[in-house]
Parts: sequence; C-alpha cells; structure tokens
Amino acid sequence: MEGVTSARSIKTVKKMISSARSSAAVEDKMAFYDSWAENYDQDVAALDYHAATVAAKTVSCHYSGERGAAAVLDVACGTGLLAKQMKQFGFRNFVGIDGSKVMLEQAQKKELYRDLKLCFLGEQRLPAETDSFDVVVICGSLSVDHVPVRVVKELWSVCKPGGYVCMTCRHGEDNLGYVAALERELMQMEEDGLWGCENVSVVDQWSKAVTGSEDGYISGSVYLYRKRQ
Ligand SMILES: C[S@@+](CC[C@H](N)C(=O)[O-])C[C@H]1O[C@@H](n2cnc3c(N)ncnc32)[C@H](O)[C@@H]1O
Repeated sequence: MEGVTSARSIKTVKKMISSARSSAAVEDKMAFYDSWAENYDQDVAALDYHAATVAAKTVSCHYSGERGAAAVLDVACGTGLLAKQMKQFGFRNFVGIDGSKVMLEQAQKKELYRDLKLCFLGEQRLPAETDSFDVVVICGSLSVDHVPVRVVKELWSVCKPGGYVCMTCRHGEDNLGYVAALERELMQMEEDGLWGCENVSVVDQWSKAVTGSEDGYISGSVYLYRKRQ
C-alpha cells in the first residue's frame, strides 16, 4: 500500500473512524462501512494499515499445498485487500463474505473473488459448508462492535480438517478487552482438541492509532491455527 496518497488527511480519517466507534448497532456499523467503501483503500493506506499484508504473508509461510487450487474464505473481506495480497503469493480461489453491500461492490471490482456473499456475522450463520475451505482468514474485523468472538467457532467449522484459520486483531486501547476474550477462546479451542496453534506474532507498527487518546502506531496480532485432522 506504500506510495498511495490519500485524498483525505489522516485527521479527517481518524475523526470519521472515531465517530463510528461510538455506535454498537450492527445496522449503524454496516451503514458506516457502506459510506466508507469508496475511500477505504486510500484511507487505510494513509493509516499505514498492515493487517492484510501480515495475514497473507503468515498464511503463505505455512501453506505447503497447491496454492492455485486452495479454496480461501475471506471473512469480512471488505474491499478485497486480503485477496489482493494473497494473489501475490499464488492463491487464486477466493470467496468473500461481508456485512456491507457497498464494501462487497468494491471487492467485486477487483475481480478476484469467485463468489461474494452478504452476511451479518454474529447475527446470521456463516454462509459456508462445514469442512469446505483450505484456508479461512478474517482480517481487521475481529474487534469490539464488529465480529463477535463466538464467530471464531464458525470459522473453525467451515475450515477443512488439516486446513488453516488465520485471524488478526488490533491492540488499540478500546480493543484490549476483546483481545483478551479472543485469546481465551483460541486457547480453549486448542485445549478442546479442535485445532493446534501454528503461529502467533505481534506486530508493533500495525497501523496508525485512530482513537482520540492514542498517538503514533498501535500494535496488533496475527494468529494462525491448524484444524485437527
Ligand atoms: C476494517 S474492515 C476490514 C476489511 C478487510 N478485511 C481488510 O482487511 O481490509 C472491517 C470489515 O468488516 C465488516 N464487518 C464488521 N462487522 C461485521 C459483521 N458483524 N458482519 C459482517 N461484516 C462485518 C465491515 O463491513 C468491513 O468491511
């Protein structure tokens, strides 16, 4: 994303994101993403947002199968930044899901997905067959007022045995309670024998901070789990 110039100042982008964080209603959240869709790619480039790049690299480092054929489910795909990154590592077979119709329209324009589906995660069941994807990725969306932690079990469910589930989570101060709940769930699922942890990495410069009281960069994590055979 380097080299892309935002049409809007970072201050404007931060103000817009902070205003949306005050609403927890899913309809409001999706309306916010509908209104952001057109400027999203440029704005997150200005915020130096690394989640999609880090997630794609993490999957690529661990995936040893035939990439072109691997079925990848991009959950909360937004405008399709993750598929764009994964394509550079040889992945070609993407299905995207998101709750924002306009974000999906932007993703469609990238011509990378064989299917795109509208779904409000947490309220509606993930629209995918059990044991059907080689890789399931959720990037930039496991956070407070976005995708609830309980959806992680659904990500696991639609992944094939032996397949990978890759998740990212930002460490903004408003999200620390969510990070703790997420990590409890990931560990519990490992203790229950559902999957094994392949990699957890913390990235210091995840993106520029967007909440009022934070400055500079926030950190974030990428988690990679492999479903038991
Ligand atoms: C920060 S964007 C991340 C998009 C993309 N994965 C990326 O990394 O650029 C968050 C996305 O999650 C979607 N989203 C948030 N909560 C959702 C929910 N409960 N159900 C479905 N989509 C949701 C939004 O519509 C938005 O496209």
